Formats: sequence, structure tokens, C-alpha cells
Amino acid sequence: MESTAGRLTRKTAIISGAGSGIGAATAELFAREGASVVVTDKDGSSAASTAERIREEGGVAEPFTADVSDEAAVIELVAFTAQRFGGIDIVQNYASNRSLVPFDVAIAEADLSVWVQQLSVDLLGCVLTAKHALPHMVRAGSGSIVNVSSLGAWLSFESRPAYTTSKAAVIGLSKSLATEYGKQGIRCNVIAPGHIVSAGTENMYSDEQTEVMLDHVSAPRLGRPDDVALAALFLASPESSFINGQVIVVDGGMSAYAPMVPSFRRLAEAT
Ligand SMILES: NC(=O)c1ccc[n+]([C@@H]2O[C@H](COP(=O)([O-])OP(=O)(O)OC[C@H]3O[C@@H](n4cnc5c(N)ncnc54)[C@H](O)[C@@H]3O)[C@@H](O)[C@H]2O)c1
Repeated sequence: MESTAGRLTRKTAIISGAGSGIGAATAELFAREGASVVVTDKDGSSAASTAERIREEGGVAEPFTADVSDEAAVIELVAFTAQRFGGIDIVQNYASNRSLVPFDVAIAEADLSVWVQQLSVDLLGCVLTAKHALPHMVRAGSGSIVNVSSLGAWLSFESRPAYTTSKAAVIGLSKSLATEYGKQGIRCNVIAPGHIVSAGTENMYSDEQTEVMLDHVSAPRLGRPDDVALAALFLASPESSFINGQVIVVDGGMSAYAPMVPSFRRLAEAT
């Protein structure tokens, strides 16, 4: 993607889940915009690959292996970032454990350990990064936190109740953080993507289901990681300095229309 003009110069960003998909695209865009990026992921080799790509392009990046659900690891991540770059301006949370998808089944059949794992990463990961980065932001009198939710937070799929719940809770957490820390110059916003074609989703849907997704997007194409990264850049940059506690939906219009619209279209085509 082309640079949009050094909007994050002299900023330091921690980006979780940055070994893959949307997190990786965000880390790469932020580095192009001048940020020093700590590329963190539970999968250390993927974090190292993202950081390497950034460095090859001339950007500043450090890989850091951390499980965001492990408080000791998050404490180390924050300490490393503050020591290496002198502060923390931006935290973006994309970590999510896609290996849980097949086990996140209807509640009567669910194994509680799946719920614990899902909430530990997708929700508590956001709690922990905020908890330990906030003291640095408070000292600096500024900061931007972005947590990723999902369209699935309020438009439930038939399955994945633990995912749906964790992504809905991320919105409540973010509004709370925005309210508690806004007066101290710290903002917390949410991005809720619709269907984005990424490593995390490539095996999740059949070709037929992907066609259905395309049919339901009010856009000529499906979403890409860069679509989310560009919204994340806006929320991290000073251009959004009066936007706090909000949810930006990046879904190509999938949630914009009334549920009967596709049926009405089919009826119109049939006549
Ligand atoms: N792709 C979509 O369609 C879509 C839609 C809505 C929301 N989202 C959300 O956006 C985020 C990124 O999605 P993606 O498609 O790029 O996923 P992805 O699976 O490609 O990337 C997620 C990354 O998180 C890392 N991770 C998993 N558990 C971790 C942990 N405990 N600690 C640190 N890192 C961990 C994985 O190793 C992986 O690199 C996720 O939170 C996802 O729920 C994605």
C-alpha cells in the first residue's frame, strides 16, 4: 500500500497478533507512516517475519514473542518497548486464537475451557495490554488504544458464541477505558471488521460461502487486511484526536441494510 505521509513519525506502537493477517498489515502500514513498531505475537517466528519485512523496507521494528493472555509476558512486552523506544504512544490489539473456531459450539454442547481460552486472549489480552501500557501513556499525557471487535459482536453467527461474547465485551471494555482515561489525553476506540480475507479466515469458509459473503457486501469486493489497517491508522493518528470510545465498522456495508433486502432483490430478479 502507498504511504499516506508520515502520520506516525516519532510514535511507538505495540501491535499484538502482528505475525499474521490484519495485525501484520497494520504493523507494516504504521512503520511506513514513521512509527517504531513492536511486532508482537504468540508465534515468535511470524512476528520475526513481519518485523523483517518492515526492516527490509527501511522501517523500524522489533519482534517480541508474547502471549497476551499471560500477564507476566505482557509486563515484559511493555517494559521492553518502553526501554527500547522511550515510551508507548499506541497499542493495537489484534491477537485472537483461530484454532478455537471448531470447538466454539452451541452453548449446551460447549466445553467451558474453550470459553476461558477465547476470553483470555480476545478480551483479557486487551485488558492486560491496556493495564500495563496505560501508566506510560498517563505519564506522557497522551495515547491511543485500538481494540479489534467484530461485526459478529452484534450480528451473531449461528456458531461461535464464545467469540461473539468476547468481541462484544471488547466494546464495553473500550468504552470504559475511553471514559476513565479520556481526560488524561488517552483515547480508546474499537474497529469492528466484517469479513476480511486473511490467513485467519482463508480456511474458515467454503468457496460457496465466500460467494455468499460477496453477495452480502455492499461493495464490489471482499475486505482486505489493509482496509482495517487504514482505519487503524486514522484512529492512531492525531487526525482522530476528538474521537474516543467509538466503534468504527469496516465491513463494506454488510451491516448497512435491512435483513429482507437480499430476498427483495431475488424477488425482483424473478419477476
Ligand atoms: N479476518 C476477519 O474477517 C475478521 C473479522 C472480524 C474480526 N477479526 C478480528 O481481527 C483480528 C485479526 O484477525 P486476522 O484475520 O488477521 O487473524 P489471524 O489469525 O490471521 O491473526 C491473529 C494473530 O494472533 C496471534 N495470536 C493468537 N493467540 C495469541 C495470543 N494468545 N497472544 C498473542 N498473539 C496471539 C496468532 O498467532 C495470529 O498471528 C482478530 O482479533 C479477529 O478476531 C477478523
